[in-house]
Amino acid sequence: MRLRNIPGASEEMLVNPFVIQNPEQYKGHWSEHICNGKPLYIEIGMGKGQFIMALAAAHPDIFYIGIERYSSVLLRALQKMEQQPLDNVLFIRMDASTITDVFGTDEVERIYLNFSDPWPKDRHAKRRLTSKEYFQRYDAFLKENGQVEFKTDNRDLFDFSLEQVPLAGWRIEACTFDLHHDAEMNPGNVMTEYEEKFSALGNPIHKMIVKR
Ligand SMILES: C[S@@+](CC[C@H](N)C(=O)[O-])C[C@H]1O[C@@H](n2cnc3c(N)ncnc32)[C@H](O)[C@@H]1O
Repeated sequence: MRLRNIPGASEEMLVNPFVIQNPEQYKGHWSEHICNGKPLYIEIGMGKGQFIMALAAAHPDIFYIGIERYSSVLLRALQKMEQQPLDNVLFIRMDASTITDVFGTDEVERIYLNFSDPWPKDRHAKRRLTSKEYFQRYDAFLKENGQVEFKTDNRDLFDFSLEQVPLAGWRIEACTFDLHHDAEMNPGNVMTEYEEKFSALGNPIHKMIVKR
């Protein structure tokens, strides 16, 4: 994501009521302290929040947490929330590399990864959110029957992810290389900001659903 530093964004993260402070304190207690007993779905690398906020508006029975590492990007989601508040979505500003400090065993039912950063250099492969190292992290907090849903237009990253899934001991539940023309997987699809942008350029969107 092209990043323009917005003055005051970091300070806003510390006071905004939609941003969870010190999320590690809720590890093992998300259900009772934050989610009111609702199932918890998270999006890692949520960008400006279009996808997760559309899902939250459509599914009031689910609790959503969006994770984004850049304050200036997350700020855009907070501005949308101020205009149209939702009571079943909150945000964490953090780098997902430490996500196992935040969520404990069986706390999350679904993980969304949308248009994740590709980290094209081989030496950075472990930073890709669909690397086997990240699946090991997800294993620590995803419910037994939970799933990871990943969308991208980046074929190299998608192919890498298809290889990583079995290496991590997980399996592909469903997969398409052209989501928007897939009669089984496309119905109900909610577009992300990047998905709108890249599909408008004619790029096919790839999607996989992954389970253990
Ligand atoms: C290419 S953008 C896609 C944004 C949005 N998901 C979409 O599809 O429109 C990727 C986003 O993920 C965030 N991100 C990448 N790696 C991350 C990490 N390790 N932890 C948290 N956020 C991350 C980036 O800052 C960026 O905002």
